[in-house]
Amino acid sequence: MALPVTDLRSDTVTRPTPEMRRAMASAEVGDDVYGEDPTVNRLEARAAEIFGREAAIFVPSGTMGNTIAVKIHTRPGQEVICEQRGHIFNYEMAMLAHFSGCVARTIAAEDGILTWAAIGRWIAPKIYYRAQTGLVSLENTHNMAGGTVYPQDIFDDVCDQAHAAGLPVHLDGARIFNAATVLGQPVATVTKKADSVMFCLSKGLGAPVGSLLVGSRGFIDQARIYRKSLGGGMRQAGILAAAGLIALEQMPARLSEDHANARFLAEGIADITGVRVIGTVQTNILVFNVAGTGQTSYDICRRLAEHGVLASGIDADHIRMVTHMDVDRDACARAIKAVQDVCGCGRRAGAAD
Ligand SMILES: Cc1ncc(COP(=O)(O)O)c(C=O)c1O
Repeated sequence: MALPVTDLRSDTVTRPTPEMRRAMASAEVGDDVYGEDPTVNRLEARAAEIFGREAAIFVPSGTMGNTIAVKIHTRPGQEVICEQRGHIFNYEMAMLAHFSGCVARTIAAEDGILTWAAIGRWIAPKIYYRAQTGLVSLENTHNMAGGTVYPQDIFDDVCDQAHAAGLPVHLDGARIFNAATVLGQPVATVTKKADSVMFCLSKGLGAPVGSLLVGSRGFIDQARIYRKSLGGGMRQAGILAAAGLIALEQMPARLSEDHANARFLAEGIADITGVRVIGTVQTNILVFNVAGTGQTSYDICRRLAEHGVLASGIDADHIRMVTHMDVDRDACARAIKAVQDVCGCGRRAGAAD
């Protein structure tokens, strides 16, 4: 019998659990554009409570949540500071420019973690002929840097210093529950100093659709207007929110399992000749360099797929694998074996058993 496909392309590929499907089928619904969907209202109230904020808004995607936040925090003609490999800059269809009329001022950080020492020097001087900095946007965990987590003192310091410079801070917290798991702190504590936070239900938390944006009441009131202009006003969205509530309440507790599986994968893959794991693999994302194998990441991913393992080539030299609730330890062991077979060189001389 053929083994099931091990899909490590992203934690977005999870299917809703039977409990989510049951909750979706029986969800109490109304028209959310009229503010009348009780399940969406419950999800928003619960998200605000969990994050210690005044209000929250349910949006169809993380991209829409980030786009709305940038729009509210900035004015056209301003710069948004973000990390060079940040999602907001690379994978959100230039919405900084398209919807908010801003440009990204990108700063490179090898581990994706921006310190104030790195940011401070790029704040535009207050001169009328220089585009002004409008916003600092941080990403925690940092996806393309390999799921790295902001040390709390660095995150808090960036927020404090940005505020002292008169700048708001938005957090792209698509995977903030993964960060909070590593830090051993509630998300409310981890994100307290940011002015707004976007987080996703549809990644490690396993919901089929949806993200939330949290912030002050006034901020969320404005967000409701921009969500509608972007076409994100949904009607009986309680069908989705019902799964989202289960994701929010139950799924954070199991994320450490994904982190352990990612470390297991990393340890198995690190032994393969020509492969170099990036960073320490703190959460559920593993990025590894395959330049030493003499093959491109794209060729390796194509061949892995023939072995029933799906992974993403993020550039010619790097592959990303993401663990999630639909891959268990056995699936990760099969993935290691597939990488060994495809890279074709077994283990490095001297590698311990
Ligand atoms: C760090 C980060 N931010 C934002 C997003 C956007 O989320 P969505 O795909 O729901 O638009 C993603 C998606 O992968 C992400 O990884």
